[in-house]
Amino acid sequence: MGLNLLEKLVKTHLVSGEMRIGAEISISIDQTLTEDPLGTMAYLQFEAMGVPKVKTRLSVSYVDHCMLQEGFENPDDHRYLQTVAAKHGILFSKPGNGICHQVHLERFSSPGETLIGADSHTPTCGAVGMLAMGAGGLDVAVAMAGGAFYLSYPTVVRINLHGQLKPWSTAKDVILEILGRLTTKGNVGKVIEFGGEGIETLSVPERSTLTNMGAELGVTTSIFPSDEITRQFFTAQGREEQWREFLPDADARYDETIDIDLQTIEPNVALPHSPDNVCKVREAGFLKVDQVLIGSCTNSSYRDLMIAARMLKGKKVHPDVSFGVAAGSRQVLRMIAENGALNDIIDSGARILETSCGFCAGYGQAPQSGGVSIRTNNRNFEGRSGTKDAKVYLVSPEVAVASALTGQLTDPSDLNIDHPIVPVPERFYIDDSMVIWPPADGVEVYRGPNISDPPHPTPLPENLLAGVAIKLGDKITTDHIIPAGPVSRYRSNIPKSSDFIFHKVDPLFAERCKDYKKKGMASVIVAGLSYGQGSSREHAALCPSYLGVRAVIARSIERIHMANLVNFGILPLIFNDPQDYEKMQPGDELCVENTSQALNNPTMQIKNLSRGYMFEVSFSLTPRQVAIIRGGGLLSLYGSDSPIAM
Ligand code: F3S
Repeated sequence: MGLNLLEKLVKTHLVSGEMRIGAEISISIDQTLTEDPLGTMAYLQFEAMGVPKVKTRLSVSYVDHCMLQEGFENPDDHRYLQTVAAKHGILFSKPGNGICHQVHLERFSSPGETLIGADSHTPTCGAVGMLAMGAGGLDVAVAMAGGAFYLSYPTVVRINLHGQLKPWSTAKDVILEILGRLTTKGNVGKVIEFGGEGIETLSVPERSTLTNMGAELGVTTSIFPSDEITRQFFTAQGREEQWREFLPDADARYDETIDIDLQTIEPNVALPHSPDNVCKVREAGFLKVDQVLIGSCTNSSYRDLMIAARMLKGKKVHPDVSFGVAAGSRQVLRMIAENGALNDIIDSGARILETSCGFCAGYGQAPQSGGVSIRTNNRNFEGRSGTKDAKVYLVSPEVAVASALTGQLTDPSDLNIDHPIVPVPERFYIDDSMVIWPPADGVEVYRGPNISDPPHPTPLPENLLAGVAIKLGDKITTDHIIPAGPVSRYRSNIPKSSDFIFHKVDPLFAERCKDYKKKGMASVIVAGLSYGQGSSREHAALCPSYLGVRAVIARSIERIHMANLVNFGILPLIFNDPQDYEKMQPGDELCVENTSQALNNPTMQIKNLSRGYMFEVSFSLTPRQVAIIRGGGLLSLYGSDSPIAM
């Protein structure tokens, strides 16, 4: 029996475990990446491990999120990131060089290698045949220190793309179509492998839009083969010698197969407030638009911005629309500046935004109160734009431009112009001078006053007494737990960051946890389905752990967040009976007796002391994870001679 791409990638990197669905495996990691708000803590954790130089083949630290620098905190963090990178053999991509996933795809991606990144859209590099996965910062720190990365062996879903997209239909519309069908729930533990003759019609940047937004499905990652299209991309990036063919065997086996005829795809839109709330633009009805933004790691490639420029040439955006454009990398910005396309964008009345995550991460460009914002990024969670009652719609660059021109959500085929054709250039503009290579030695790490040491939680107590500090509904994202935007400046300061946990949902949450702590009790978070979806933000586990949270009891918990909870010593527990979720109330006091014994079984009995009943929860933890929970978190075990630390 032949092998699929996942099997080939795992086989060549397997450190431990059996390649059996659901079994825990560990793999060696060739490359890591970090972005700034999650990177600071990852490097502080790496420093705490006492390893002098990274042991990965390549590690890159990007600054692309917190670029506004309103105060000393962000610039201090940027300097810390640069110096800690220099000291430990890590490449540093300066602010202004571009968004981590866009730059990594352009300059560092490598078919057949493994990559983990402290950012949930790390699967973007799956577009060239990498096993690229989002992970917690601590997992990235462990990988940089030479440790393996642990995951449950996934099922592999083959998505066969057939035929060719019609004019005005795009890769973004394909992934929105897939999101509409598969939704953001129920895809945990799956890997998507794209195939079929239709993939030959998609360039690498288009493929990367699909792998990027696969993150919204909740899958472990998405992978394309590395083929002739990939070779052309590498050649144009001046990296032909780094290309290699990487294909599945003809008789490879898949756990599930989905067929999509590209010819049937129409321009789509994800309606507020979820990327899977998808309908055709044509069926969305009349929608007046206040703001249009093009950019983010999903749609900011040379292809995307050239299409936008060609559509805008000689036209003006609607007077009521605020229109912003951000290139994904300096390479893209430089190329559209040189060929004059940037002038067409400027002349149309666009605001030229910095080459960074910017609006996607909630840094600037908040819409007006109750405003309608049409965006090309990947998430439209409530409040992520910076305006709580704004409505964000996710679309392709083509739909974004059409809407900016007309002032209403518009199917671009209604513009009565030809869909511009933008071939992949024969040569991209190449200048890596904003990537700083580490010097041999002699670097002192700079630590500004914003930076605090990573906390070390204590071991799990034998008798766990805890209060329900909050009860939440379904689909709580890491943005709900700890918002992006301006408060991200405190990500390297855990005591300060912790004050913002659930700040927009329940501003008294942190105080309540502190009160429980004063009474010698732990805190518990109770939630519904899909708790922790969205960004891989480990602060959504780290800060609750700092506040004394010892368990999340939910109806289901998303993969990356579950791993982060374990890494920070928080029990991820699932209600066996949904009625028990209904019965539980904020302020209830809970008790688990004899936790070491309780962790030996896959189910656990919890007593609700306030209401006088027992209920059962289950957990799916490997022996390694149980040991981490008992010890109070992965970092506490590091350097303790525990074999599970690596
Ligand atoms: Fe940045 Fe948004 Fe991508 S925050 S990494 S552009 S998802």
